[in-house]
Amino acid sequence: MSSPHPGKVIPLPGAGSPAFGTRARSLIVGDPRSDHLLRQAEQVGATRATVLLVGETGTGKELIARHIHDCSRRRGPFVAINCGALSSALIDAELFGHESGAYTGATHARPGWFEAAHGGTLFLDEIGDMQSPLQIKLLRVLQERQIVRIGARQPIAVDIRLVAATHVDLAKAVQAGRFRADLFYRLHVAALHVPPLRERSGDILPLARHFLELYRSRLGRPAASLSAAAEQALLGHTWPGNIRELENVIHFALILADKGVIERENLRLPETHSRLPDSPSLSPDSFGAIGQSVRQLLEHNHPALDQALEEVIVRSALEHCKGNQVRAARALGISRNVLRARLKRHGLLMERLVIAAE
Ligand SMILES: Nc1ncnc2c1ncn2[C@@H]1O[C@H](COP(=O)(O)OP(=O)(O)O)[C@@H](O)[C@H]1O
Ligand SMILES: [Mg+2]
Repeated sequence: MSSPHPGKVIPLPGAGSPAFGTRARSLIVGDPRSDHLLRQAEQVGATRATVLLVGETGTGKELIARHIHDCSRRRGPFVAINCGALSSALIDAELFGHESGAYTGATHARPGWFEAAHGGTLFLDEIGDMQSPLQIKLLRVLQERQIVRIGARQPIAVDIRLVAATHVDLAKAVQAGRFRADLFYRLHVAALHVPPLRERSGDILPLARHFLELYRSRLGRPAASLSAAAEQALLGHTWPGNIRELENVIHFALILADKGVIERENLRLPETHSRLPDSPSLSPDSFGAIGQSVRQLLEHNHPALDQALEEVIVRSALEHCKGNQVRAARALGISRNVLRARLKRHGLLMERLVIAAE
């Protein structure tokens, strides 16, 4: 390829595992700022220090957490948990595990997340969304390095390396009384700032080409490329949704394009460069626009169109609700079970995400 922005590709071990999900396969780096961040990640990765990744949603914090784990040479698994998606009902059992007979329905003893991450890395995503009773429990585990399963008497020692991520300013959350100061200081040992995509524009084209290749092969399409005008449009956008937004734009453009070259018109970029409002109000016009897109897709004889659209809908709802399945199901007006079945169908279900380190 005669690309002026080849970018660097760092393959992620464990990417072949089905638990890895369908998206993250490798880390693409094209901008010096990202290179710098990766070097920092590698430096802290080699230590046992707790790492806090701070950055907007969609900037790739989870991939960096995996890279830190890979650099740590810890041989245990990488276990990722989205704190915002944790429901308060069975949370203790999820985190700490339980003995058999600990409560109704607990027929077997089961280890929790902390034990699952033993010898490896526990990644707590969106830690700023963690409920306050849970913050106290986490702090205790970090101090004592041991957990007690529900229904057990004996503590179990756990050797975990913690990497946490947040898109909220935790210092402000502490000031506002929403986050415990003592936990904040424990987490804030090595804080890495993950810059938004608009501040590392050298990543845009390498990432766009990476996603083009990824989704082209998933859709079973022949080779695809970006026109010069499309590249300019990508470079000119401010990407409020960061890399996740870029990924979705490329995926959808590929669905819309009827030839191997993605044109400017195939890119669904919002007209304004401002951030999306928290809850955009959908007018009947919005549905009209969706209908128009569907008609275009029908004209292009897109194979498995219904499934492709379903994936776009459930993925958008889940991202809008920051991974919270209950809220995403409610937003779509379907039951959580139906949502989970659909997420599973599209490889988007965040089950216990346990990735073997080697
Ligand atoms: N450097 C990168 N190279 C390739 N894909 C990336 C990179 N950074 C992020 N992504 C992809 O972008 C999406 C958002 O990344 P994620 O780690 O979930 O972001 P965050 O946790 O910050 O919200 C994921 O699908 C991820 O695979
Ligand atoms: Mg995340």
